[in-house]
Amino acid sequence: MIEAVGLRRPIFAKKVNFPVCLAPMVGLSHVSFRRLARSYLPAGAVTIWPTEMLSTFKLPQEKVGSTPETRRDPGEGLLVPQILGNEPKPISDSVKVLEDWGADGIDINMGCPVNKALKHNYGVALMGDAGYAADVVRATVASTQKPVSVKLRAGFDGKIDFLKSFVRGLESAGASYLTIHPRTAEQKRRGRADWSQIRELRESVSVPVIGNGDIQVADDVFRMLSETGCDMAMAGRALTARPWILWQIGERLGFPPPIGRVGRAPVGEREEALEYGRALLSMCDHVESDFGGELGLRKLRFFIRTGSVWLDFGNSLYALAMKHKTISDVRSAIIEFFKNDLRLVQRTELRN
Ligand SMILES: Cc1cc2nc3c(=O)[nH]c(=O)nc-3n(C[C@H](O)[C@H](O)[C@H](O)COP(=O)(O)O)c2cc1C
Repeated sequence: MIEAVGLRRPIFAKKVNFPVCLAPMVGLSHVSFRRLARSYLPAGAVTIWPTEMLSTFKLPQEKVGSTPETRRDPGEGLLVPQILGNEPKPISDSVKVLEDWGADGIDINMGCPVNKALKHNYGVALMGDAGYAADVVRATVASTQKPVSVKLRAGFDGKIDFLKSFVRGLESAGASYLTIHPRTAEQKRRGRADWSQIRELRESVSVPVIGNGDIQVADDVFRMLSETGCDMAMAGRALTARPWILWQIGERLGFPPPIGRVGRAPVGEREEALEYGRALLSMCDHVESDFGGELGLRKLRFFIRTGSVWLDFGNSLYALAMKHKTISDVRSAIIEFFKNDLRLVQRTELRN
């Protein structure tokens, strides 16, 4: 069954047996969110886990494992931290530090479209020079025995012939798999992700391809796998609203419920809204214990801002999170708010 929907080309020497993973997201893909998402992963399912992007110019000087971006739970498996950089020495120093920390692989960011990345020639800027991008992959591969992947966009103009030769260059340089987010640099995260590009690029390389962009519900995962032939789907923003997409997918693939959970995955707008409330209460606890009151509150607010766009009156919930000054007060406000008759909608326009 699993083969039938994805993972046709094995990722991580067949250790991965689940066709969805979480996307790297600055300020979101931290230990607290990974723990929450993992709590909805079906028992026995194995997937890969990201960090938010980590600068190779900073990592070698940092106390990796203690910074908010690199905190991790003991025993967290298949962690693939994402690096941002373009110079061999900082890359190899960072890879070493990350391997000591427990990285199972290294992902290279070739998608970040912010001005700083463009100015310093990393992130999506690397897509402006295919030879240089391949050199960055080569330098990373030379620094580690672990799998090296690249997460890229549709470049600057989304021209498919350029993209095909670009991904072939990354493959020749030693990339073990590629994640394609088919939006151009200019689109940032708005507009439609053009899934047809995932299909075309998947057919252009022999390494596995992970498709990313616009997954909002479990059905979208199956649709992306079948429409594009990609080997795995990656979901970002939607998992901040309904992390139990993982459980819903697991049910359809015949996996048992997540450890510690019984019955069926939440389904339907009302039931899912109630589950979203419960998930937010868990997040309150996670961010407080992982980051403390002040930083924890900032992480919680950002998490609510991202996910509440799927909730009826989600902007009121976000306003409450901004108004209250402690996690404990936000917690009480969440409990009150979810006494209303709320719906978690299936689809919304993704703007952020
Ligand atoms: C707040 C935020 C931060 C992001 N940070 C990163 C990042 O650090 N590295 C990266 O490769 N992509 C980053 N992305 C892009 C996501 O990984 C993903 O490609 C994008 O959100 C599309 O997927 P989605 O529609 O499932 O959210 C970020 C996205 C968001 C919303």
